[in-house]
Amino acid sequence: MEPVKVGLLGLGTVGSGTVRVLKRNSDEITRRAGRGIELVAAAARNLDSLGDLDVSGMRLTEEALEVVDDPQVQVIVELIGGTTLARELVLRAIDQGKHVVTANKALIALHGNEIFSRAQERGVMVAFEAAVAGGIPIIKAIREGLAGNRIEWLAGIINGTGNFILTEMRDKGREFADVLAEAQRLGYAEADPTFDVEGVDAAHKLTILASIAFGIPLQFDRVYTEGISGISRDDVVYANELGYRIKHLGISRRVNGGIELRVHPTLIPERRLIANVDGVLNAVLVWGDAVGPTLYYGPGAGSEPTASAVVADLVDVVRALTTDPENRVPHLAFQADALSDVPI
Ligand code: HSE
Repeated sequence: MEPVKVGLLGLGTVGSGTVRVLKRNSDEITRRAGRGIELVAAAARNLDSLGDLDVSGMRLTEEALEVVDDPQVQVIVELIGGTTLARELVLRAIDQGKHVVTANKALIALHGNEIFSRAQERGVMVAFEAAVAGGIPIIKAIREGLAGNRIEWLAGIINGTGNFILTEMRDKGREFADVLAEAQRLGYAEADPTFDVEGVDAAHKLTILASIAFGIPLQFDRVYTEGISGISRDDVVYANELGYRIKHLGISRRVNGGIELRVHPTLIPERRLIANVDGVLNAVLVWGDAVGPTLYYGPGAGSEPTASAVVADLVDVVRALTTDPENRVPHLAFQADALSDVPI
């Protein structure tokens, strides 16, 4: 069977990781997908800054639109971030009948309702595993692994940069600004790092998780959002001396017939598993009525961990392309027609 042809928007931290993983593991990926995945085109903001990335076989351009409009491209991988251009490009790809994989949590949290209903109309798939908790397959775990459960609540460390800052302040007594600068150098932080330290990035991710877990519409503006910018080194050290860890959590649970959504710093007793999730690692606890407590743990940011989730979505899309189109969309996209009317 012909390989599926993919166009990549963005060759930054996650985009370059995606190229490396697809090329390095091409045999395994082809076996699992049942078909090859061929990167045929890619757009980058600056083609002179690709270093030694192996871009052989790909048509390169600085115009993202050229990749979206390329008639041979069947799947668009959106890794440029932001919400204005990304929204336009994704909707344009969907209108052309192209499937979309994205790591863009802000895009899904703010415009997901529009994007998914357009995708459903056009019968195309939109997959977004990499948008939440980096390499942890948390979307698939909730939507597929826990599909038989009524989810009661979930809570997690879902911003790697923030967790890295809190950990370094506690373990090495480092200054907040110094650790944030390192997180930026390592490619963990958002383009606008206030999203990390003011809780906005975690709120985007919680919006998505709650939507999948509770079947509610995406409503980012209803999340109570507080970041870690007000936490000092002394706070972290004193909490430690008292037997607690300060962790920034996203929490969503059923309460009084509705769903509560909040992100803020919390004090967690040090004997709890989640209190010991350090550095750029993320962890999400999900409580289902049948299974009880489950915990998902792994790298929450970074080039190849996030690429791992992007490639998993690509494999899902490629597998689904060989199934009946009628059954395709609900498997991968958010089910706009299956929303409950639970108030937030
Ligand atoms: N800035 C994000 C984080 C990247 O630190 O978690 C991964 O979504």
